[in-house]
Amino acid sequence: MTKEQRVAVITGSTRGIGRGIAEQLGKDGYALVINGSHQDTCEKAARELSAKGFQVVACAGDVSKKETHDQLVKTAVDHFGRLDTYVNNAGIAQIGNLLDESAEDFHQIYATNVDSVLFGIQAAAKQFKRQKDGEKIRKIINASSIAGHIGYEQLGAYSSTKFAIRGLTQVAAKELAKDGITVNAYCPGIVGTDMWDFIDEKMVEENGGQKGQYLKAAINSISLGRAETPADVADFVSYLASPMSDYMTGQSVQIDGGVQFI
Ligand SMILES: NC(=O)c1ccc[n+]([C@@H]2O[C@H](COP(=O)([O-])OP(=O)(O)OC[C@H]3O[C@@H](n4cnc5c(N)ncnc54)[C@H](O)[C@@H]3O)[C@@H](O)[C@H]2O)c1
Repeated sequence: MTKEQRVAVITGSTRGIGRGIAEQLGKDGYALVINGSHQDTCEKAARELSAKGFQVVACAGDVSKKETHDQLVKTAVDHFGRLDTYVNNAGIAQIGNLLDESAEDFHQIYATNVDSVLFGIQAAAKQFKRQKDGEKIRKIINASSIAGHIGYEQLGAYSSTKFAIRGLTQVAAKELAKDGITVNAYCPGIVGTDMWDFIDEKMVEENGGQKGQYLKAAINSISLGRAETPADVADFVSYLASPMSDYMTGQSVQIDGGVQFI
């Protein structure tokens, strides 16, 4: 990995996997645009990353809105002069059976998980096409999931959004290849973040049992025998964001410690 400075936007990077990706890309020499829904948590994350010696700017905003992505790209360009990598990481989970899913909840999870990826692809590609600097490959990287390869009960709406992201990733890769833009997705397994605490809590509410029981059962399904960390995911995203993956596009790769083998 070269230490030449590049510029990355990472959505949903105040905590969890996105925060891990920001830290790794910072180490890789990237200047960072940090995003989350709330201004205060976004600025706090930016201060903490900045204290580690990274060049960071915060740009809060709801990723389900198109204008947030335009603002994220503008922030990258205004502060750092350009954009090299755009990570569509932000997402939410919901727990419940499909028959109980309300139209409102379904639209909300699609807006946050899928509309956001479309808008991120559009905003990033527009800027990449504007920047003309030879043969350099630009990167769009999306968060799918093992639940985007196999549907999980009580994670039906969530699973379907993660399947949709694989579709968007493939089509964007085909449409943007001629412009020197690659589009790939990472598909984590069971990562110990706030999202899994939420899933476990809601599973207890839906099905009974003890706090931590559903997370423990999920961890037991991992061949490598431990929960995934944000850093495990970030190591792979570092590769996707580097020139080492320049010949790879349209792929949605499971990085899950051996949960699914398809
Ligand atoms: N945790 C897992 O086990 C797991 C597994 C597979 C895939 N993923 C995916 O990885 C991504 C990150 O997950 P995580 O576990 O770090 O989640 P998390 O809940 O810990 O963090 C989510 C981040 O996204 C931000 N966010 C949520 N909604 C937003 C919105 N509307 N606008 C802007 N920011 C918003 C939050 O502020 C936060 O920074 C998600 O897309 C998730 O679906 C997670």
